[in-house]
Amino acid sequence: MAVTLAFDVYGTLIDTHGVIAALEKYVGDKATEFSATWRDKQLEYSFRRGLMQNYENFAHCTRNALDYTSAYYKTALGQNDKEALLDVYKVLPAFDDVKEGLARAQNSGFRMFAFSNGSAEAVEMLLNNSGIREFFMGVVSVDEMKSYKPNPAVYSHFLRRAGAVGSEAWLISSNSFDVIGAVSSGMRAAWVKRSADAVFDPWGIEPTVTVHSLLNLTEQVIQERKKSESSLS
Ligand code: 2OP
Repeated sequence: MAVTLAFDVYGTLIDTHGVIAALEKYVGDKATEFSATWRDKQLEYSFRRGLMQNYENFAHCTRNALDYTSAYYKTALGQNDKEALLDVYKVLPAFDDVKEGLARAQNSGFRMFAFSNGSAEAVEMLLNNSGIREFFMGVVSVDEMKSYKPNPAVYSHFLRRAGAVGSEAWLISSNSFDVIGAVSSGMRAAWVKRSADAVFDPWGIEPTVTVHSLLNLTEQVIQERKKSESSLS
């Protein structure tokens, strides 16, 4: 069976901190901190909405998180400024290693999907805007389940939609909560640790492999697959 790869989008393919340059205009040297709080709150809101079964889509979480962050930093951001920032969020850039990393994975015959908390429409826009849509067989969004990662139901949904089984399907993500969610749901997972400072959540549930760039992904997935095949024979 061919290997299926589910690529996380925000924070893995697409750089959520690509909004920092736009933020500088509004919050000056607080832009990096502001961006980190915005992203943390966006994820927290998705987790809480999942737990409360009070689903609104990811763009809604992003908008609420911007309102929170703006109030927290006591900024003077008006509604038009916020709309301008949310527009930047719709066209965030891909990380530098993404195009080449995806091309190598595609050349190895992997079946590739984007799998995201974002709505299919938002993800399609991001992938098209960064010129990487062509690498994917499809986009699978948690929106189809009205819940969020790391609910096990959304990983099962991915496997059904992709026509894959957990032992031959990999989640590729920089988000450790996502990696832990996928491994707990029977998938394999590559943690993309681009920064030496990134810390994996110490839950005792480890990624199948850790890669420092998407450029090393293909060779590590192939190596791991050979290892597991030889341990079976
Ligand atoms: C995504 O699902 C987790 O935000 C991340 O795209």
